[in-house]
Amino acid sequence: MKILVTGGAGFIGSNLVDGLIEKGFNVFVLDDLSTGKKENISKKAKFFLCDIRKRKKTFEIFKKIKPEIVYHLAAQPSVPISMKEPKKDIEINLIGGLNVLEASIKNNVKRFIFSSTGGAIYGEVPEGKKAKEDWTPKPESIYGISKFAFENYLNILAKGKMEYIILRLSNVFGPRQDPYGEAGVVAIFCNSLLKNKPVKVYAMKEKGDKGCIRDYIFVKDVVSACLLALNLPEGIYNVGTGTGRKTMDVLKEIKSNIKSESQIIFEGKRLGDLERNVLNVEKLKKFNWKPKYSFEEGIKETIKWFERKL
Ligand SMILES: NC(=O)c1ccc[n+]([C@@H]2O[C@H](COP(=O)([O-])OP(=O)(O)OC[C@H]3O[C@@H](n4cnc5c(N)ncnc54)[C@H](O)[C@@H]3O)[C@@H](O)[C@H]2O)c1
Repeated sequence: MKILVTGGAGFIGSNLVDGLIEKGFNVFVLDDLSTGKKENISKKAKFFLCDIRKRKKTFEIFKKIKPEIVYHLAAQPSVPISMKEPKKDIEINLIGGLNVLEASIKNNVKRFIFSSTGGAIYGEVPEGKKAKEDWTPKPESIYGISKFAFENYLNILAKGKMEYIILRLSNVFGPRQDPYGEAGVVAIFCNSLLKNKPVKVYAMKEKGDKGCIRDYIFVKDVVSACLLALNLPEGIYNVGTGTGRKTMDVLKEIKSNIKSESQIIFEGKRLGDLERNVLNVEKLKKFNWKPKYSFEEGIKETIKWFERKL
């Protein structure tokens, strides 16, 4: 079976490509390498360099490959960048996404699997609660708005023409995450602590507090959810662990594994950052999925990967 992964040179996409190849699928990658890296892409996958904003080229590649399944991950994936450069976010996540969506329908793709956000779509998740798939989305960032808008385009344009699955991922971490961006706190902390560089902790409410609460999930558990999505009934599924952790707790866990001289700098609240996000993942668990990696195991694997890179 031919499977196309857009964004397959990136952090989650390249881990997914490895998982698909292990299962014996014929895998194709479309990526513009803006944040992804060629070295991330399995040698067993066929790579097409393309910016999804280029409609003609995107359509040509789809016509050539004729994939049966599309995983759409290519995106501007950062909340802070979306707030600083909303136009760029809209151009990639909406106009580019629309090109991928329309090219999929035109080329009779059977199933379209979209990596949406569970971290930025629901808005604030009050203490004691976990966001469920049937909550009304209340995104508070440009990134969250564009992911929600794309879900709606899917509902309107794909219905009756192509099966589609929406995976709302929480905060993913693991090997190959970019430590130089503004998102991906685990990668940033691992890289900085190993290099004895200062680490910044952004506030949840006020400078000096323990930081925002997030639902951190290891990338290999996200890959297993993506593989399951090949056979799930159509719909929206949260992918997370259901456990919330503060930024300082993440830092503490990483620090317990690394001897580091890094200075900790407490910063104020960042524009677009939600205070608390934790997902309810009971829907996906009904299909025999559950995270296999504990937070501590995932952190250890991630650190090992960063150590090898030094
Ligand atoms: N990392 C997370 O915690 C998280 C959480 C929820 C959802 N997601 C979503 O998962 C997907 C993958 O995110 P990631 O964390 O692996 O980020 P990433 O930046 O590592 O991957 C994105 C990939 O898309 C490619 N890309 C970007 N713009 C492109 C364009 N115009 N044309 C073609 N390719 C382009 C990049 O080169 C990169 O390889 C994104 O859709 C993101 O929104 C990520």
